[in-house]
Amino acid sequence: MKILVTGASRGIGYDTTLQLARTREHQLLALGRSEAKLTALAAKVREELGDGILDVLVYDLTNADPARLESALRKLGGLDVLINNAGLLINKPFDQLTPSDWHDSFHVNLFAVVNTIRIVLPYLSAASAAHIVNIGSMGGFQGSSKFVGLSAYSAAKAALANLTECLAEEFKDWNIAVNCLSLGAVQTEMLTAAFPGYQAPVSSKEMGAWVAWFAVNGQRYFNGKILPVSISTP
Ligand SMILES: NC(=O)c1ccc[n+]([C@@H]2O[C@H](COP(=O)([O-])OP(=O)(O)OC[C@H]3O[C@@H](n4cnc5c(N)ncnc54)[C@H](OP(=O)(O)O)[C@@H]3O)[C@@H](O)[C@H]2O)c1
Repeated sequence: MKILVTGASRGIGYDTTLQLARTREHQLLALGRSEAKLTALAAKVREELGDGILDVLVYDLTNADPARLESALRKLGGLDVLINNAGLLINKPFDQLTPSDWHDSFHVNLFAVVNTIRIVLPYLSAASAAHIVNIGSMGGFQGSSKFVGLSAYSAAKAALANLTECLAEEFKDWNIAVNCLSLGAVQTEMLTAAFPGYQAPVSSKEMGAWVAWFAVNGQRYFNGKILPVSISTP
């Protein structure tokens, strides 16, 4: 499969990309802002697995020329799976959140996903059975425990979950499944920002393996689903 992973420079996106690469069954495009980290990922994959498996694209989802992504997709030669993994967590109580914080949170967690899907749609609709995986959060899962400081993040992830259901309906005649994985705590830099000192029961590597499996196989079993992937609170 041809697979695009956003937010691949670190954390869950990095480990998902590495897991997918190690199957040697896919061609990957890994996107993020940090050139140094993406270059290191590309070098690791090349050294371990050889050429032709992974291309990287330094691309700020909130401020990039879409033509650069379109050009990378043409080079990839199609797309079967999009993993919208990049995310931004701002940890501030509601009365300290600025309009700019709210804008940034919704920009990365929702509008960037919308923009990316708009760009890749012609490629996904040309694939035989495509899959969009939106990486949501238990914070945005209806009825879950909520935490002080996470309103801008959780509200944006809730909107992403709803978008998932809407797009599954819109895209069903094009054989594009759309699902949302609402993740619980995973040990990454983002978790440390949200819950300093807390030790998550799941490592980034473990979650990366699960997301990689789901991205390639989940469309056979799920469409339009918001799936809680969590064994703890937070
Ligand atoms: N860790 C958890 O406990 C947890 C729980 C629930 C949900 N999640 C979700 O899982 C996903 C991955 O989280 P994580 O914990 O791995 O986070 P992380 O370690 O903070 O990594 C975030 C990734 O998103 C990328 N990113 C952020 N803003 C971007 C932008 N404007 N353009 C392009 N890339 C951007 C970062 O790239 P650069 O560093 O290169 O900018 C980085 O690769 C997120 O959607 C997060 O909300 C995580």
